Amino acid sequence: MLVRPISENELEIVVKIHLLAFNNFFLSKMGSSFLFTYYRAFLRNRNSVFLGCYQDNKLLGFCAASTLSKGFNFLLIKQNLFAFTIQGIKVLFSKPTALVHLYRNFSKNGSVQFDNQNYAELYSIGVSPEFQGKGVGRILFNNLESSLQRKACEQLSLTTDQFNNDKTLSFYKGIGFNILYEFTSYPNRKMYRLIKKL
Ligand SMILES: CC(C)(COP(=O)(O)OP(=O)(O)OC[C@H]1O[C@@H](n2cnc3c(N)ncnc32)[C@H](O)[C@@H]1OP(=O)(O)O)[C@@H](O)C(=O)NCCC(=O)NCCS
Repeated sequence: MLVRPISENELEIVVKIHLLAFNNFFLSKMGSSFLFTYYRAFLRNRNSVFLGCYQDNKLLGFCAASTLSKGFNFLLIKQNLFAFTIQGIKVLFSKPTALVHLYRNFSKNGSVQFDNQNYAELYSIGVSPEFQGKGVGRILFNNLESSLQRKACEQLSLTTDQFNNDKTLSFYKGIGFNILYEFTSYPNRKMYRLIKKL
């Protein structure tokens, strides 16, 4: 298996893997066109680390992280305002409540006073279901960790569900994450913020 940065012409495959790996997650409900816009914005941002794991040139999984956590999602929107406005209009007509959901989730840390968000953040790590449990996630994470260390990042954080999430929680625990705090995201989703020293 080989890990290298994702290129722009692979984003449609990234979206396909996202939809398969995260089939019940809120962001997936925004649709493939929104996800494409989001991941393209991610890839074009200079703070991002966006890696894919390949076997025989086939993408098996990916991870998307940023050296910056505070305000990162809003920075992506600001830098790609036209593309996100088009997506926003589409969602407004198809699922208006999803826009509120999106806004609340993008700003989910706002209410936690003691968290200065002084860490890099892992926004997404997903492996095609047929290749899960074969070491792809661990290889992706090891490469991500090395990239972030080279960029002088000292801590990496992420958010994940508290419930019905045993497999993913054991994955994160196995690679060295600890619970920083618990919080509730919109509308009533119990979450953990996890953290790992790099
Ligand atoms: C979570 C995910 C990225 C892990 O990647 P993966 O390639 O399946 O995981 P790996 O094979 O590298 O396993 C690494 C460790 O994770 C844990 N793990 C993996 N699969 C597991 C399972 N079915 N049950 C329990 N623990 C498991 C183990 O601790 C394992 O370590 P080990 O191999 O030493 O036992 C992947 O399963 C996935 O895409 N899940 C769906 C999307 C998702 O939930 N992403 C995280 C969003 S917050």
